[in-house]
Amino acid sequence: MQAQLNKILDQAKDKLQEAATVAQVDEIRVKMLGKKGRLTEILRGMGKLSPEERKTTGQMANTVRGEIEELLEKKFREVKVVAKEAQFKLERIDVTEPGKEVNIGVRHPLTITMDEISKVFTNMGFSIAEGPEVETVFNNFDALNAGPNHPARDMTDTFYINEDILLRTQTSPVQVRTLLKQKPPIKIISPGRCFRCDTPDATHSPMFHQVEGLVVDEGITMADLKGTLDRFAKQLFGTETRTKFRPHHFPFTEPSAEMDVSCFKCGGKGCRVCKGSGWIEILGCGMVHPNVLKVGGIDTERYTGFAFGMGVERVSMLKYGVDDIRLFYENDMRFINQFK
Ligand code: DAH
Repeated sequence: MQAQLNKILDQAKDKLQEAATVAQVDEIRVKMLGKKGRLTEILRGMGKLSPEERKTTGQMANTVRGEIEELLEKKFREVKVVAKEAQFKLERIDVTEPGKEVNIGVRHPLTITMDEISKVFTNMGFSIAEGPEVETVFNNFDALNAGPNHPARDMTDTFYINEDILLRTQTSPVQVRTLLKQKPPIKIISPGRCFRCDTPDATHSPMFHQVEGLVVDEGITMADLKGTLDRFAKQLFGTETRTKFRPHHFPFTEPSAEMDVSCFKCGGKGCRVCKGSGWIEILGCGMVHPNVLKVGGIDTERYTGFAFGMGVERVSMLKYGVDDIRLFYENDMRFINQFK
């Protein structure tokens, strides 16, 4: 029996020498020391031995077990190191290798302009309202005091979906939507897309953008309109900018005006940008017509308001010196990348 134990120890040594992986070493462990392993087998047979023999054999078995355990542990450590090294080699990262180029997009010039305009107004306490691009004829025209005979309602000017639905020709219907669901004080702007049956040329596009504004509260006067819009012009075009209001007509405001800003290129002396006049027309505005306020059920004796609307493309073209509106929609990266 003692000879058998020595043989087991030798076998374990031989096998472990050949083992190269954690799995192989573990297999040897099970074969030698496991419940059905060689050593257990021998210990089972010890019942037949005399007490004297049992003692010495038992001691020897324990020593052999201890030795095998030690050998196993040593080998486990060895193969684990080898395995780890192999894995490191496999997962090796070359930190000197050049990285993949990440192409970060740029904001479209119209988005930049719209964000700039919005920021000036939100800084003055305006919130942003939104409306759909597909609108009712009622919200786009009737509620804005543009009766059935208004020229803008003509098929040649407006994209109709059917008799009652159209692609909005202006962002002004957001005024109506706001008046219908909000009570004064109201102070909103609404940037968005508009559509008109225009043939594209250097200054016209059937799709374009506007920013609308609406303020309604007690005691709002033309002075609030002028103060707000003058402040806006100075923030967008520079503190030197002067503003001028010319009488105009819009069905939904009374009185109505157009606002000009002193040319930010030449400061008012006259140049190519302002076509020699020193002034640039920037937006339409006016005091909200009582008929419009009434659509929202607003007491026109108590409340007054002002509104304004501007073309984003126009502002963007002036600011960046873009001379053809079509450049905005061609997705030519050579154009767009200039606004990095
Ligand atoms: N909706 C007008 C247009 O498309 C612009 C406009 C003018 C909007 C005056 C307004 C305003 O709110 O008060 O030409």
